[in-house]
Formats: sequence, structure tokens, C-alpha cells
Amino acid sequence: MQLSLNIELSNNQSLQKQIFESIRQQILSGQLKANASLPSTRLLSEQLNVSRNTIVLAYDRLIAEDYICSRKTIGTFVNPKLPESSLTIFKTDNNNLVKKNAINSDQIVFKGRVQALNNPNRSKLDIDFWVGRPDPESFPINIWRQLTINKLRSSGANMTEYHNPAGILELRKAIADHLRPARGIDVSHEQVIIVNGSQGAINIASRLLIDKGTQVVTECPCYQGAVYVFENHGACIHPVNVDQNGLKISDLPHTPTSLAYVTPSHQYPMGATLSLSRRIRLLDWAREVGAYILEDDYDSDFRHNGSPLTALAGQDPHGCVIYMGTFSKSIGAGLRIGYMVVPPELIETTKAIKTLMDNGNAWLDQAVLADFINTGAYTKHLRRIRRVYISRRDALIEALHKHFGDVSLSGLEGGMHIIWHLAEHLPIASKLKKIAEDVGIGIYTLESGAAYDFGNRANNRRMIMLGYSSISEDKIHEGIKRIANALKV
Ligand SMILES: Cc1ncc(COP(=O)(O)O)c(C=O)c1O
Repeated sequence: MQLSLNIELSNNQSLQKQIFESIRQQILSGQLKANASLPSTRLLSEQLNVSRNTIVLAYDRLIAEDYICSRKTIGTFVNPKLPESSLTIFKTDNNNLVKKNAINSDQIVFKGRVQALNNPNRSKLDIDFWVGRPDPESFPINIWRQLTINKLRSSGANMTEYHNPAGILELRKAIADHLRPARGIDVSHEQVIIVNGSQGAINIASRLLIDKGTQVVTECPCYQGAVYVFENHGACIHPVNVDQNGLKISDLPHTPTSLAYVTPSHQYPMGATLSLSRRIRLLDWAREVGAYILEDDYDSDFRHNGSPLTALAGQDPHGCVIYMGTFSKSIGAGLRIGYMVVPPELIETTKAIKTLMDNGNAWLDQAVLADFINTGAYTKHLRRIRRVYISRRDALIEALHKHFGDVSLSGLEGGMHIIWHLAEHLPIASKLKKIAEDVGIGIYTLESGAAYDFGNRANNRRMIMLGYSSISEDKIHEGIKRIANALKV
């Protein structure tokens, strides 16, 4: 028989792989039926004008994966005993396979939304002002490599055993020791639970405290990654507006509230720092309504003006703050390590949830990070990147003033991004984002920058988020200049 196969010499897949795939597709789509006979390797090699050995190797793989079988001296045939499930796959276009009838959408309980983690068009951008991305050039690759090699020389059992799901002891101790001077939080390492970034902490806190209809307070606007998880757990969300001093305490509800999610050091996305008097009132309010406060201290390592502020958890006399920190901003989001500091009465339940969720974080990453902190390399790294980020923030402010005159900016005191309040003569944020993207520059509206504004678009349509930490000063200047030029034409 003749087989019509889709083979291209110019394709960057090997001929053998293309032949294998092409026959496999025909079997799965039902074009080649059970027991259908395939041409001999010699015939097919002549037909396709490729070496016989290539065909033999492709057939061998099809045999090994049970798509076809060879009957001695008779020939090669499509396997008559292919499982039913593998035959329900059909081809929708040249590249995508979709399972037919596999999904009944009523069965899927998850109906949630997902936060933005980066710009989906980033490959088309020359300069990307994405928010909260650490500088890739500053990743401490040499010391990280060395520490990793050292750790791998230790007992292999570290890689084969389960470890404490709450985190390895060295790292929990290193974090507790770091938090005392850095954030003014005096805790035992027992209270420190290692998680998969802040996102892990948000999920654990939600499992801990949110049920269908539970009242949860969030800032408005706030971080998508938090509010979408609360929503998904069935929370009844009570958004409270923020102003230049952070959360408006006078707007907090006086009804039973299980959880209040806040970003006091550098409000996400607006960048305000919660004033001391508001911090005290927030803690009193939490006691009054019986709420736990989930403090997200995501980018507090970067305080550009003045000395670092004590975290809310360090000012809490009532023991109602669940603190969460992350290494996503200070080292890199690829590491996926964060931590929670929970009040003593929550330690065991938090550990139980963490065990159910993932049996613990990877040992190697935790062990290397613990050494990175304990050798003093982390403090050095922070000192170095703080200087880099301050220069970049200053370059961004300078470039905006140079090309747009008297601009209104907020969130300058710390963190890794600022908010640019667009003047009336400029296009609204979504239009400006598009204009910038057309000239290869990524800038962000609140929504595209992973913030959620509860539909308060009218207020926020003149705000642009600009991250500066991952872009060199020259590129920052060039990026802003390109946007200004695009507006002139
Ligand atoms: C407000 C806020 N919290 C936390 C995070 C970090 O999340 P993770 O630690 O899961 O990487 C981000 C990242 O952008 C953020 O903006």
C-alpha cells in the first residue's frame, strides 16, 4: 500500500521523527485502521526518497510504543489492540492535538481567574517595564553554582528522603535570624513555614481561614494573585480603598471578618506605605472584628528613602498577623521559595495544610538558600542590588521628566515599580500601553500589571505601572524616549 506522509526536508525535526509522527497521527485519527497493512521499509524508503535505515528506526519506535506490530514474513500492521482512549484523539490543525469529548465542562469545579505573571507579548518587546522583576544580570550565579555543588556532595539521602514539609531546619532558622534585624520581627524558627512563593502562602492562608461566604477584606486596588485565590475559596470580598497613606482604615467594615490581606510596606499596586497611626488602628480593628491580617511583604527589601520600616508583624501586640515574605523579588521568581510566619496557635494546622498541598519544597533549593543566607552572601547581594535599583528608579524619574515635563508619580520610596498618573493631554492608560507596545516598549495598566481594581476603571484609567528593576539605565531612557516620540507622530 501507499502511505501519504507529510514530510519536509526543511523542517527542523529529524526525518525519522517526522515519519513516526505522521504515521502515529494517521493511526490516532482513524485514517489508518486497526490491522491496516503498512508498506515495507524498502518500499517506503523508495517512495519518500529517504534512507531505509531512517524508516526502520521510525517503525521500531512505532512498534516499541505499540502503535504498530510486525508479523514475521507477513509484514507490518496497525496494532488491532490499541486502547480505546488513544483513538479518541483527533487532529485539529497541523500542531495541536485535542482530546475529543474528554472534558465535560460541568464537571470542572474550578471557575477562577488567573493573575498576570508577565506580558504575553513580551517576545515582541525591545524594552519591558514589567513590574517587580529582579535584574537577571544581578542573579548571584557563581556563588549559587558553588553552593549547589557543595550541597550535592553531601549525603544522597537528602535527595531521596522526604523532609519536614514546613521546611528544612537550617532555612527556617536562617530566615528567623534574618527577620529580626531586617524586619523587626522576633520569632522562633518553629513559626516559619517554607512555601512555594507568596502564592503558596496565600493558598495556605485561604485553606486555613476561608469558607464559602467568609468575609475577607482586601485593599482596593490590590494584587490579583491574592484576590483571585480568595474568590476561588468562596470568600465574600470587601474591598477597602487606599490613598496616599495606604489602606483607609476608617472604611474598614465592623462586621465579623476572617482575614484582611494587606501590603503595608509598599501597597500593591499604588506604592503607598501604610502610616504608623493607620498600622496601629488596623491592628486594633483586627482584634475588634476577630480577623487575622495577612501581611504581604513582597518587595520590602527595597526601601529607597529613609530607613526600613518595621513590618506590621513586628508591631503586633495581639498575635493576629500572618506574615509572608518571598525571595521572588530579592533573588528571583524562578526559585519559588517564600515563607510564612504564623502565630504559635496556627503552626500545626499550617504544617498540616502544607503537607497536604505538596509534601514540602525541594530540599536542594532550600539547602542552597540557607547557605546563601548563613554565609552572609544574601546580605551582600541585597546591598548591591539596592544600589542598582535606586539608580534605575532615578533614571526612570529623570527620563519621564525629560520627555513628559512635570509628571505626577507615586510609589517612589521603595519597591521595584512606580505609578505614573497620566496628565489629561495624554491618552488613557490602555491606549498609551498599545502605542508603546507598537514601538516595542512594554508598559502596564493596573489590570495588565497584575492589579485588580474591582471595576473601578474610571479612576484608574489614567495610571500606568512602570517596573524599573530589570532594565539598565540606558534602556530606561531609550524606552521612555521611544514612547514620547511615538506620541509626537
Ligand atoms: C503583591 C505581590 N505579592 C507577592 C508577589 C510574589 O509572588 P511569589 O512569591 O508567589 O512569586 C507578587 C509578585 O508579583 C506581588 O506583586
